Amino acid sequence: MTRIDGKALSNTIKGEIAAEVKRISMSQQRPPHLAAVLVGDDPASAVYVRNKVTSCEKIGFESTLIKKRESTTEEELLEIVRELNEDKDVDGFIVQLPLPKHINEHRITLAIDPNKDVDGFHPTNFGKMAQGLPTFLPATPFGIMTMLDRYNIEIQGKNCVVLGRSNIVGTPISILLSRKAKPGNATVTLCHSRTKNLEEYTRKADVIVIALGIPNYLKADMVKEGVVIIDVGINRIEAPERKSGYKLVGDADFDEVAPKCSFITPVPGGVGPMTVTSLLTNTLQSYKNTFKIQ
Ligand code: GUN
Repeated sequence: MTRIDGKALSNTIKGEIAAEVKRISMSQQRPPHLAAVLVGDDPASAVYVRNKVTSCEKIGFESTLIKKRESTTEEELLEIVRELNEDKDVDGFIVQLPLPKHINEHRITLAIDPNKDVDGFHPTNFGKMAQGLPTFLPATPFGIMTMLDRYNIEIQGKNCVVLGRSNIVGTPISILLSRKAKPGNATVTLCHSRTKNLEEYTRKADVIVIALGIPNYLKADMVKEGVVIIDVGINRIEAPERKSGYKLVGDADFDEVAPKCSFITPVPGGVGPMTVTSLLTNTLQSYKNTFKIQ
């Protein structure tokens, strides 16, 4: 069993980006610049956004964090998006999801300039991804594809089962895995809350990507020997023995399934750090697009 070290791989790629930034930004007026908008006080979102911003500093990007109170209106947020769209000093930006219930996420996503949509959530970019055209790939699926690639995990012709059909992870990763590309060319089944006899699919899977948000859901009797498990879940569960009072676990029951796996991503330290790295890669690409750098 190989534990896929997303943290180490992410650091390697960040080093590569930092070297490239150093090389190309010397001849430009400014370094790449990522902005992040955080609305409300969801503690997990605050941690994710902080990671994104501090990663920027480490690799020589400029970053801006725009923090807004929970009661921010949709109109106020749309105005922030419009300003970021217009700001020539910002290469890309993200609006951290989920947003407070009174804000329509689709309206916000649609308002983002696709050329600055480094999350790859805008339908223009999502459509390009589906057709295999160059675009910003959504950060988490992009991170997963990079992991599969750098660990040389063969998925061509394999049975891949994706659990969860969110716009952020399940749906785009199912498209990327099935695309005629490398990595890709897999036979993909997308399972969700209405799938009947889910175990029948998971037991036949060569690769499982699980993004359900249910702690320790996937058990040993649901998978076959030699399976590859990519665990996207980041769930906080109570842990009175810890100082913080909680710990993070994935959607797969790691201790149970790991002995049966050929490869598995841990939580934390698996997919999470790769998501951040992909966002940085997209921001660098946006900067290169702006300054017409090859
Ligand atoms: N919430 C969970 N994952 C993501 C992500 O990749 N981008 C944004 N903007 N919000 C998220």
